[in-house]
Amino acid sequence: MNPDLDRLQPYPFQKLVALKQGITPPAHLSHIPLSIGEPAHPAPEIALEALQASLAGLARYPVTRGGLELRRAISHWARQRFQLPTGSLDPERQVLPVNGTREALFALAQCVVDRTRNNPLVLMPNPFYQIYEGAALLAGARPLFMNLSADNGFLPDLEAISEDQWRDCQLLYICNPGNPSGAVMDEAFMQQLLALAHAHDFIIAADECYSEIHFTDATPPPGMLGAAARAGDPNFERVVVFHSLSKRSNLPGLRSGFVAGDARILDRFHQYRTYHGCAMAPPTQAASIAAWNDESHVKDNRALYTRKFDAVLEILDGIMDVQRPDAGFYLWARTPGDDETFARALFAQEHITVLPGSYLSRATESGNPGQGRVRMAMVAPLEDCIDAAHRIRRYLESAPCRAQ
Ligand SMILES: Cc1ncc(COP(=O)(O)O)c(C=O)c1O
Repeated sequence: MNPDLDRLQPYPFQKLVALKQGITPPAHLSHIPLSIGEPAHPAPEIALEALQASLAGLARYPVTRGGLELRRAISHWARQRFQLPTGSLDPERQVLPVNGTREALFALAQCVVDRTRNNPLVLMPNPFYQIYEGAALLAGARPLFMNLSADNGFLPDLEAISEDQWRDCQLLYICNPGNPSGAVMDEAFMQQLLALAHAHDFIIAADECYSEIHFTDATPPPGMLGAAARAGDPNFERVVVFHSLSKRSNLPGLRSGFVAGDARILDRFHQYRTYHGCAMAPPTQAASIAAWNDESHVKDNRALYTRKFDAVLEILDGIMDVQRPDAGFYLWARTPGDDETFARALFAQEHITVLPGSYLSRATESGNPGQGRVRMAMVAPLEDCIDAAHRIRRYLESAPCRAQ
């Protein structure tokens, strides 16, 4: 067996099952899970119709690169969305469809990390999406955690990385907007990262899968492609971005996303993927084209999340230390005391499941930035989110110590 498999950590949801073991929640209260970030709004009809109309495509082997029509749709979408220069993001060389960003975030590290170099490091946020860590470990690298806390606006403290660490860094994951905090980087911050990537020759893997879930249609979160283009690099050197239809279009089961950016990296990644064997099924491609070509369902999706955040934050106002995120569909709330204790007690008393923040993070020399927080996903129906907020309020009002 590959010994690096033993370095993988249990997934947060495995820990959550263990945490809730032996508790019998009140039977008269329905269970409201706020723990899993699985979108639950309806999927867009146009995508489902395109999927059904293309089932005959299952009779063919798809190519790893995906059809040109899909790559064109993606390139067009990204150019508009991030105001990229006309003609940039070549669908032939700078775009690859992937079967959800999860597999691609994992696979990229396997493709780009040189394990023969001294002390290969992969930098990543902490708390994080656990795939970054597993990807680094199985690529034979060491994860280096960049702690995100309220003190630094939930953005990595670039000054805290030493020269030696920058030298050994081969790949840096960022999550923008962040999961779990929802914090959004501005272009100036991203350009600082770009300058570091060029100075120390590492690749930036920008996970932007929450970029379309935000609260102001007029000012969507910026992305790394736009930051690179406006820093004067229309070739997106050392940059690969990851986008998904899972959150944007409520299609987590479709397994569809894309990577885009530096043609040199994508060429090798394409080669890697032909061996890995992960071409996208033709009906999935057809559904994806329909979804990337339509913005109206995305707008409706955002409006629904906005209503949930409005309602829930009003109910929790003054009782819980929690703010509206810049983007995304999570609340990253401070708990009165220990996060595991809070999650267990809330489940026991109110039949609500939230994810302890420390399950999304690692302990470091400067502390564990997930501790004392919980992640609550606003994916349940509006009425359930409101019900959950009332129950959390009731729990906090009855609890011996409060957040504020
Ligand atoms: C930060 C982050 N990145 C990537 C993903 C993977 O999404 P998908 O594989 O559905 O595109 C998730 C899913 O929850 C996520 O939270």
